[in-house]
Amino acid sequence: MDKITVSAPGKLMLLGEHAVVYGHPCLVTAVEQRLKVTVEKSNTNGLTLNAPDVSVNDYYKPIAQLGNGEIPKGAKFVEIAVLNFFQKHKFSDGLKITTNSEFSSQFGFGSSSASTVCVVKALFELFEIKTTPKEIFDLSYKTVLDIQKTGSGFDVAAAVYGGVLYFITGGKVIEPIIAGDLPLLVAYSGVKADTVSMINLVKEKMQTHKEGVEEIFKNIANLVEEGKIALMEKDWQRLGTLMNFNQNYLEDLGVSTEKLDDMVLAARKAGAFGAKLSGAGGGDCMIAVVPEEKRKNIEEAIKSVGGEILDVKVSNEGVKIEI
Ligand code: PMV
Repeated sequence: MDKITVSAPGKLMLLGEHAVVYGHPCLVTAVEQRLKVTVEKSNTNGLTLNAPDVSVNDYYKPIAQLGNGEIPKGAKFVEIAVLNFFQKHKFSDGLKITTNSEFSSQFGFGSSSASTVCVVKALFELFEIKTTPKEIFDLSYKTVLDIQKTGSGFDVAAAVYGGVLYFITGGKVIEPIIAGDLPLLVAYSGVKADTVSMINLVKEKMQTHKEGVEEIFKNIANLVEEGKIALMEKDWQRLGTLMNFNQNYLEDLGVSTEKLDDMVLAARKAGAFGAKLSGAGGGDCMIAVVPEEKRKNIEEAIKSVGGEILDVKVSNEGVKIEI
């Protein structure tokens, strides 16, 4: 095989962000918006990358130099994924890679981890090496850690497995949850968040207020356990209440913003079962669980405080071959 296209979904955190970095569980869902990667063998001695969504055009690096020198932000995950795969499986072929996303990298849907997972999956296929989803997860997660130095891997798991997952740090547990038609509403705050700096902010809090932060994490972990049951029972009212509690804890951790607070409050006032920020905080998206008959009103309420409604649905499909 000389060429393959694979795709993987983006993700949204339902419950448990930040606590999951410290060994606690979280609940994550994959979303319908996907990222596509085409990988083909080329007769150069290098990696050529085109990732127009993140302004990477005709980037070239000799295979022997992968991982060395300056790497543009938008090329990092692809380059290090190739490097890790080649080192592990002893290849050094020239490659041409092109990525295309159905969602903006601004939203915090996990475009970096989705592109990493796509590249790893595509390389296993292209070089005809038998693999398992867990192996794709492990190599992709290693890639993310090599670059970011921190992170739970929940986003990688969503891209590999799809659907709703109960997830524990580093993939210790990755359990699919059958949640049916989760009535999710998603809105963008207009601000791009920087995950690593938000993780560092919580790390500083952990150093100055260890007991308090650990207490918050324990409470968040309890919400996740209850949320897992609520999801399985499709008890959206209960899930919403848990999201509200989770948001309060995230506010205590200092990772929410005035804009996110306003959007969350507007959603609740207009009749959402519950609402919270989703992900690292500091911007990106908020999510709400909503009664369908009130969806339109809730959308209007969020728009009136400056939120941008995104058309996002839960997806059951993890990484897959397109052609
Ligand atoms: O910024 P996002 O949406 O990728 O979410 C980060 C969630 C954290 O729990 C803060 C980090 C992590 O890797 O789990």
